[in-house]
Amino acid sequence: MRVRVDLDRRGYDVVVAEGARHELAVAVAATGARRAAIVTTPAIVAQPWFDVDPGVAYELVMVPDGEAAKSLTVVERVAESLARMELSRRDVVVSVGGGATTDLGGFVAAVYARGVAVIHVPTSLVAQVDAAIGGKTGVDLAAGKNLVGAFHQPSTVLCDTETLSTLPLREWRSGWGEVAKCWLLQGGRADALGGATIEERTLSAVRLKADLVARDEREGGPRALLNYGHTLGHALEAAALARDPDELRHGEAVAIGLGFAARLARTVGRVGDDVVDETVAVLRELDLPTAVPAGMAVDELLAFMARDKKATHDLTFVLPGASGFEVVHDVPAEAVTVTLNEMMVGR
Ligand SMILES: NC(=O)c1ccc[n+]([C@@H]2O[C@H](COP(=O)([O-])OP(=O)(O)OC[C@H]3O[C@@H](n4cnc5c(N)ncnc54)[C@H](O)[C@@H]3O)[C@@H](O)[C@H]2O)c1
Repeated sequence: MRVRVDLDRRGYDVVVAEGARHELAVAVAATGARRAAIVTTPAIVAQPWFDVDPGVAYELVMVPDGEAAKSLTVVERVAESLARMELSRRDVVVSVGGGATTDLGGFVAAVYARGVAVIHVPTSLVAQVDAAIGGKTGVDLAAGKNLVGAFHQPSTVLCDTETLSTLPLREWRSGWGEVAKCWLLQGGRADALGGATIEERTLSAVRLKADLVARDEREGGPRALLNYGHTLGHALEAAALARDPDELRHGEAVAIGLGFAARLARTVGRVGDDVVDETVAVLRELDLPTAVPAGMAVDELLAFMARDKKATHDLTFVLPGASGFEVVHDVPAEAVTVTLNEMMVGR
């Protein structure tokens, strides 16, 4: 299956298929590149399915696994490797790995030689349904995640569902959180989700992201709907980080945030019980969490959610309503508190 991200001259295909990685040589040939730098990690190279063939001369450029790749130090090291192999502006960077690897590979491609083509071969569910699509690339600073980055659309994205065969359970759950978000944003029902294959679930998320990116490449409008579940999700991640960095994967936090957003919409009178029940059913179908972890305090979460921690009136959420999903500003802190209390475990 091919999904087009329709951005005129910068448009591209996202291929979702078993064995999609074998289309790499065709995708590289379409860029006209004569050599390729394949940015990947030792953990990915060790997988039984790792057999990428770009069809042109290439070198593997190894980066650390996971979030550790997303630093300016690694950007410099990778760029030096590209320079050493005399990669020119007409050549191509290929990233193979999870979202951290595609974010880093995409960013190096955005800045090396003032921009070279990049092809993503995302291998985690998060990367296939989210990170590798849409052109957001970047690395972290000590001050926060993704604070240095660029928009740089890939030439092709190859989502090979075969690579998911080795994905650890926790990483699946993280991906399912984003899939649940996309399913709900499209009005999908829990019973239909239960009957859908992995490819169908992935495709549904890819289609939504491709559509929103095509309509709003730089997130000035409808692309912001992809933040559904993320206001509380980010707060939960921040609170978890302070006590155990391994406690919540991003998608798990988003899942709790999705349940919260539906309940909050009910609290402020935008939707009825049916929307909350259907949201929880979708989360349960994917075996995702629905309650705020025990021991997290309402005040702490409120503080993380408020953009300006002193001005809690400025709480912004993506919420469902009679006319669909919308970005809603200035949600009253009392409504947020009441709803959070509904979701607390162990009190
Ligand atoms: N650019 C965007 O729009 C966007 C969107 C969402 C997330 N992100 C970024 O993506 C990153 C998260 O991505 P992630 O969840 O893929 O994390 P990740 O890249 O850290 O990968 C998680 C782990 O899964 C392993 N892994 C990946 N594919 C595997 C496979 N097929 N088999 C076995 N192990 C595999 C990796 O080696 C790693 O250890 C974050 O840095 C986040 O900021 C970016």
